[in-house]
Amino acid sequence: MKRLDGKVALISGTARGQGRAAALRFTAEGALVVGGDLMHEEALRTQRLVAREGGTILTPGPLDVTDEDSVRSWTEDAVDAFGGVDVVCANAGAVRLGAIGSQSSVDLGFLVRAELDSVWLTVPAAWPHLVRSRGCVLTIGSTAGLNASLTNPRTAHPAANGALIAVTRQLAAEGAPHGVRVNCVNPGRIDTDGSRATLLADDQMRGVVRHALPGRLGAPVDVMDAAVFLTSDEAAHITGAHHVVDGGWSAVLPGATA
Ligand SMILES: NC(=O)c1ccc[n+]([C@@H]2O[C@H](COP(=O)([O-])OP(=O)(O)OC[C@H]3O[C@@H](n4cnc5c(N)ncnc54)[C@H](O)[C@@H]3O)[C@@H](O)[C@H]2O)c1
Repeated sequence: MKRLDGKVALISGTARGQGRAAALRFTAEGALVVGGDLMHEEALRTQRLVAREGGTILTPGPLDVTDEDSVRSWTEDAVDAFGGVDVVCANAGAVRLGAIGSQSSVDLGFLVRAELDSVWLTVPAAWPHLVRSRGCVLTIGSTAGLNASLTNPRTAHPAANGALIAVTRQLAAEGAPHGVRVNCVNPGRIDTDGSRATLLADDQMRGVVRHALPGRLGAPVDVMDAAVFLTSDEAAHITGAHHVVDGGWSAVLPGATA
């Protein structure tokens, strides 16, 4: 018996990075995944990768997690195809860095939409189905929601991610009477296309990676191994919690070496 056998999992942002890793990991554990991304062609490539491994994934069409209609029809496609929803992994998101004074309210709005609307719209669309299945939600936040950074000037980014952790807890409280669990994973310094262009770009001091205790950047699958556990029945007593997956990066003072 695999950890997620027969569970229907909505995963956003499956075109690349952590979302692609999620599609591969969840299907390897027996989940029936419904993926989606703004970058539809790349999401279809993920679908082919999953199919090659023998997994089950549907990518109904382009998905914009900041658009209510798009999210609703994505959820309906999942229910039509597989009869319900057991897991929501709200992974899609985007980052814009910039120091205080250099970011406008447009940047803040962009980040709130990308990081928070993605949960705000996805969870209500899936909620009746999660209540029926006594399912679970996993939000993907960021260590930026917990800690400030000396290496990445990013005033608006933590605003969205701090709120995400608070929303996760509230959803856990509202889900509890229905048997719905809600947790958050906060990645930090994971090597993806997205982070290479932002958090890990050369001008953002990638060299300080030594501070992560294992002495390497995280891989997308490191995050999704935690995600599989948290959305499986093994985590039945874990809800309202946030979990850091950053190789200890945020636990040590600058200067530590692996
Ligand atoms: N990589 C890291 O170090 C790191 C650290 C902290 C948090 N995170 C968070 O983890 C999540 C995934 O990060 P990643 O590194 O894999 O990023 P990535 O940029 O490599 O992949 C993100 C995916 O989400 C998609 N996406 C963005 N906005 C979307 C939208 N509105 N609708 C649908 N799809 C959309 C993108 O097209 C892309 O395929 C993001 O929420 C990110 O903020 C990542």
